[in-house]
Amino acid sequence: MFPATTDPAADRARYDRATAHLDAPLAIVDLAAFDANAADLVRRAGGKPVRVASKSVRCRALLERALARDGFAGVMSFTLAESLWLARSGFTDVLLAYPSVDRAGYAELASDPESASAVTVMVDDPAQLELIDAARAGGREEIRVCLELDASLRLFGGRVRVGARRSPLHSPARLAELARAVTRRPGFRLVGLMAYEGHIAGVGDAPAGRPLRAAGVRLMQSVARRELAERRAAAVRAVRAIAPELEFVNGGGTGSVQHTAAEEVVTEVAAGSGLLMPRLFDHYTSFSGRPAALFAQPVVRRPGVGVVTVLGGGYPASGPAGRDRLPVPYLPTGLRYDPQEGPGEVQTPLLGSAAGDLLIGDKVWFRHAKAGELCERFEALHLVEGDRVVATVPTYRGEGRTFL
Ligand SMILES: Cc1ncc(COP(=O)(O)O)c(C=O)c1O
Repeated sequence: MFPATTDPAADRARYDRATAHLDAPLAIVDLAAFDANAADLVRRAGGKPVRVASKSVRCRALLERALARDGFAGVMSFTLAESLWLARSGFTDVLLAYPSVDRAGYAELASDPESASAVTVMVDDPAQLELIDAARAGGREEIRVCLELDASLRLFGGRVRVGARRSPLHSPARLAELARAVTRRPGFRLVGLMAYEGHIAGVGDAPAGRPLRAAGVRLMQSVARRELAERRAAAVRAVRAIAPELEFVNGGGTGSVQHTAAEEVVTEVAAGSGLLMPRLFDHYTSFSGRPAALFAQPVVRRPGVGVVTVLGGGYPASGPAGRDRLPVPYLPTGLRYDPQEGPGEVQTPLLGSAAGDLLIGDKVWFRHAKAGELCERFEALHLVEGDRVVATVPTYRGEGRTFL
C-alpha cells in the first residue's frame, strides 16, 4: 500500500507538527515529495520535455513550480476559459487538450495577439473549425491548432476497442484529410499533433492482489504500445507532408512517460498526476512516486470502541463509480471505512486499530483517488517542507476559478 520511499509514522508526525496551528479540513502538498516526483518524470522522459497537465494540478503556484524545473515545458490545459486565464497570467505555451465550443472564448482568443500566440486549441472535426470561424466575431488573429489522433486499440476488425472514446480520427489517412482542411483554411495554423493512450498511461499494470488482471493488462498494453507506435509514426509522416512546419507531437501521460518518450516521432510527453501521486497511480510496474498531496479531516466524535468519526471526507473522483474512486484514509495507518457508510457527505466513521488512539481534534490524513480534483474541494494548499508550512497558495477554486 505504501510506496517504499516513505516512512508513514514519521510523515504523519511531520504533517501534524507542520499544521498544528491550522484547523482541518485542510489540504497540504509535501514539497520534497512533489519535487522528487517531478525529477522522476523528467528522468523517465529521457530528454524530451514534459508538458504539465493542469487538470491534474489545478493550482497556479504548483504549475509554476513544475515549469521552473529543467525538463518541463508548457501546460496542457482543459478548458478554453482556463487557457485564456493562464495565458493572461503569463503562461506562454498552453495546449488545450480537449475540443472546446466556448464561443466567447474563441472571440477573445481571435482578438488578442498575446493569447493567440500562447494558446493552441484541439480539433478533430471540421465542424469545430466552422464553429471557431463563426465565433471569432471579426477577430483576425491566427488560431493555433493541434489535431488529435485516436489512440485506442481496435481488434478483430474493429469489433473490440480498448481505450478512451476521444477523437474520431483513427487512421493516418483520416488525420491527413483534416490536416489538409486546416491548412487550406485562412485564419488557422496547424502546429501540433496529439494522441493520448489512456489505456496505457492511466491503467495500472500491477493491481494489488489481482495477478490475472495484471497479466491481462500487461498483455493488452504491450500489444497497444506496438500498434500505436507504428500508427503514430505513420500519422506524423502523413501530417508533416502536409504541414512541414509542425512544431510538436504530444503523447502519453503519467503511467506511460518512458514508453511514449521513446517513440522517435514524439517530441514531448504530458504528465500531471505523477507530481501529486494520487492513489490511482500506486499500481504500476514502471514507476512509483511519493504521495505528495494529502487532505486532513478532523476527528469530531468517538461513537464507540474502535471507531472515530471525522468531518466530511466524501470526495469521490470521476470515472466509473467504484471503490477505487474513493479517497483512502492514509495516516495514521490502520483505518478503514465502515462498509455501510463509506466516506460521507458531512461525516465519515473510520474503523480499525488506530481509531483507539485518536482523540477529538486530531487530524486523519487522506489521499484522493485523483490528483487535480482534490483542489475543487479546497481553496488553498499548504506547502510543507520538513515539518513546517512554508507557504499557503490558492487552488483554482481559491482563485474563484471552477472551470469543470
Ligand atoms: C490528453 C491527455 N494527455 C495526458 C493526460 C495524462 O495526465 P496525467 O499525467 O495527469 O494522468 C491526460 C489525462 O487524462 C490527457 O487527457
